Amino acid sequence: MIEAKAKPARRVAATVAARLLDWWRLARRDLPFRAAPGRAPDPYAVWISEVMLQQTTVAAAAPRIGAFLARWPDAAALAAAPLDDVLAQWAGLGYYARARNLHACAREIVARHGGAIPREEAALLKLPGVGAYTAAAIAAIAFGARTAAVDGNVERVVARLHAVETPMPAAKRELRSLAMALVPADAPGDFAQAMMDLGATVCTPRAPGCPVCPLATDCRARAAGAPERFPVRAAKKARPLRRGAAFVLVRADGAVLLRRRPESGLLGGMSEPPGTPWSADFDPRSAEDFAPCATRWRACGEVRHVFTHFELALDVRVAPAPGDCRPAPGSRFVTPGELETSALPSVMRKALAAAGIAFQAGRASR
Ligand code: ADE
Repeated sequence: MIEAKAKPARRVAATVAARLLDWWRLARRDLPFRAAPGRAPDPYAVWISEVMLQQTTVAAAAPRIGAFLARWPDAAALAAAPLDDVLAQWAGLGYYARARNLHACAREIVARHGGAIPREEAALLKLPGVGAYTAAAIAAIAFGARTAAVDGNVERVVARLHAVETPMPAAKRELRSLAMALVPADAPGDFAQAMMDLGATVCTPRAPGCPVCPLATDCRARAAGAPERFPVRAAKKARPLRRGAAFVLVRADGAVLLRRRPESGLLGGMSEPPGTPWSADFDPRSAEDFAPCATRWRACGEVRHVFTHFELALDVRVAPAPGDCRPAPGSRFVTPGELETSALPSVMRKALAAAGIAFQAGRASR
């Protein structure tokens, strides 16, 4: 009985994979970080690309991936780089733990794997910061392992194909196992990339292109007349708002006082102007207790930044540095030239910009 059911399911999976791959041979996106058809991908490049692509769109990531690979063409080069250089190269992409993990990973790859990216998904999963998606993407694309790289795009395609009613995120395990069942043994890397392209260009969150979809005849969500309803979403919780203040102290030569954030945690090891802690019950009247020196601070308005788990409203204040101002231990004046290459997260670039520190084409000037 089980055999009788399993066979048709396997046949359906093979048909879906074949239709998808036929479509992809004609419709694949020509992306600069991809190996050309018929060429073996460089596992290191696959790894860097997949990590960056988790942070930003394909269009925005492509030049950043190119620049990263040109600067550090293999794991040994990346392992030898100072962490600060890697964080600065990452600036603007957000979630700096990924950059720190890339660096830690490169060191482990050199120390424990002779500088070569491990082939096995299980070994990849043991590397710092390599999660299920990245391990599967590298194993499938770089090494041809029969595994499914399941990101949000792939979840959407599979949820629609099977009209999965379980809401997200509870549906994740089910979607992963449904995706696994579709992977063809002979072309798992192409299949992974084809699913990503289908999710990004046809099976889009809104207004999906069902009339041009190679899987339209297999798609249960389409048959039900409601592809956009999938994946089903659980009711959303509002992102909490935290508030704080940042103090931008500017020397006569344009240098700005910055400190380094603690190594671990949000924006770990990055630079910022001194400021208050960020909290829901921030009190602007006592903010100056956290200022780097007692002087007349001018309010420059508020900047907003959305982090994964909260939104930040940062009240920015600026002042010229008094002659007797001595930076507290752990902070120092950074010249406009140095600002250009310092590891300043986007939110702090916004704060400095609000205080009148202009960044032009990556350059900072007053
Ligand atoms: N998004 C994440 N990884 C990708 C890839 N390899 N190709 C296209 N889009 C992607």
